[in-house]
Amino acid sequence: MSVYLGQKAPEFFVNTTKGPVSLEDYKGKWVILFSHPADFTPVCTTEFMEFARKYEEFKKLNVELVGLSVDSIYSHIEWMKDIKDKFGIEIPFPVIADINKDVARAYNMMDEKTGSTVRGVFIIDPNQIVRLMIYYPAETGRNIEEIIRTVRALQINWNRKLATPVNWKPGEDGIVLAPGTLEEAIAREKSGNKTWYLKFEQVN
Ligand code: BEZ
Repeated sequence: MSVYLGQKAPEFFVNTTKGPVSLEDYKGKWVILFSHPADFTPVCTTEFMEFARKYEEFKKLNVELVGLSVDSIYSHIEWMKDIKDKFGIEIPFPVIADINKDVARAYNMMDEKTGSTVRGVFIIDPNQIVRLMIYYPAETGRNIEEIIRTVRALQINWNRKLATPVNWKPGEDGIVLAPGTLEEAIAREKSGNKTWYLKFEQVN
């Protein structure tokens, strides 16, 4: 099984720091499944703390966070405990211990040369379709604000069928999808829109 944009997300049933979890449990919610190269590494530690700080914001957006690496559950537990002890931050979301690398391989998150996972992000919609895939270099920490922005853009497309323009930020106009017929294109221009192919619309 492999992962493709726009296709059903590969199923998983796994052991996590919050007990057994399956993808199916999350039906009806947005899921951010993200992999990190290894526990107790500095860049990953900063990312986990930032995901935790933004946890309530993700919850309000009906998003569940799920971390993953091929480290053991004991390594995950020890790392989470250390983050709490040293930085005072509790990691409130489950982290998959993918010791058999099954999920990592299904989601194309394995760096087979090093035997660890890459820095991947998958946004899965409430119908469990993969809507976004991003891979970052091991040495480059993710931008969590950008991940929130893309969730919000995807949700506008989901709720309002609007696309979002370059550098879109919440509160700005969306884009009405381009007309599919000549008649619709002509009607749009006649209605006073500058072009038949680009039309902005207020989101709220
Ligand atoms: C880090 O998280 O700090 C890291 C992990 C793998 C390679 C390089 C950096």
